[in-house]
Amino acid sequence: MTQRFSFSLHATDGHARTGAISTPRGEIRTPAFMPVGTAATVKAMMPESVRATGADILLGNTYHLMLRPTAERIDRLGGLHRFMNWDRPILTDSGGFQVMSLSDLRKLTEEGVTFRSHVDGSKHFLSPERSMEIQRLLGSDIVMCFDECPALPADRDRIAQSMRLSMRWAERSREAFGDRPGHALFGIQQGGLERDFREESAAALKEIGFDGYAIGGLAVGEGQEAMFSALDFAPGMLPHDKPRYLMGVGKPDDIVGAVKRGVDMMDCVLPSRSGRTGQAWTRRGQVNIKNARHADDPRPLDEACTCPACSHYSRAYLHHVFRAGEMISGMLLTWHNLHYFQQIMAEMRAAIAAGTFAGWEAGFHGTRAAGDI
Ligand code: GUN
Ligand code: ZN
Repeated sequence: MTQRFSFSLHATDGHARTGAISTPRGEIRTPAFMPVGTAATVKAMMPESVRATGADILLGNTYHLMLRPTAERIDRLGGLHRFMNWDRPILTDSGGFQVMSLSDLRKLTEEGVTFRSHVDGSKHFLSPERSMEIQRLLGSDIVMCFDECPALPADRDRIAQSMRLSMRWAERSREAFGDRPGHALFGIQQGGLERDFREESAAALKEIGFDGYAIGGLAVGEGQEAMFSALDFAPGMLPHDKPRYLMGVGKPDDIVGAVKRGVDMMDCVLPSRSGRTGQAWTRRGQVNIKNARHADDPRPLDEACTCPACSHYSRAYLHHVFRAGEMISGMLLTWHNLHYFQQIMAEMRAAIAAGTFAGWEAGFHGTRAAGDI
């Protein structure tokens, strides 16, 4: 039989944890950062290049793929891994969150969500059952429950109602997912910044039972300080022996703060999206390559970085190709950003294993400038 999905913790340091998730498609070293491949591509990157940055797993999106090219077409073509030429693990988000932020004319009921496509205005329906079907057709290795979440700030009533609906949908997601050896289903904790709702949500999810547990409903406008306050209690409410995934986070200092508080997995469009808009993230701070002060600068983006953008090109070149609208601009900056994010993850895994996370964190904050470098 194929290898089952499993998680083993190798070391902890304070609340920070390091370990590995085993799947039939390969191992995911944790803490893990998942690059976002929304439309069956990590924009501006070949899959082998994404792998070369150190990624063990990608994120795909139910919402985008169901609209274009459709889950049924991807299934006929052999599944998402074959379609996009990535044979390692893929986690897919369930669509609920993206429907709420991207689609037009949404109608939310107990049954699910009816909405119009942001691509062509066509009408669609998503429910826990349909989301599980789509994620199965895609061949996703880690399937997310169908959920819903309010933008913050929202009043307690709205947060509670939304969380309880998501918990009923989690139960239906579990039922519809069934038993699929080698594939995992993750529950998603909701409840905003409210400790009692987070507790209620965690209890409901643990009662149903999942292969991993996500923390949803954060990084939706509350700011870092409020998010960290919620992360001071939310991860500890979830099972110690299962992976914990913080959805949609974040900037490098958000990621470090989340790992410090016990998070094992994260995803964010930031490194790829900002690469295409001329923003580079480095250990010394951010670089806005658009800025005219780089036009004559022969130095690399980051002297200490071993990525192709930093090994072979100057800031002057990167500035030029950005200004000229050349495609290599997005390719090089995305590669650099993904490389840097994966570098941070690798360093944190090593520091946690060595029991030196606090010292590593102090160094991380100490070498970073507040403004542009
Ligand atoms: N991505 C970022 N936050 C969330 C969330 O709360 N739920 C889902 N499904 N995806 C997310
Ligand atoms: Zn670099």
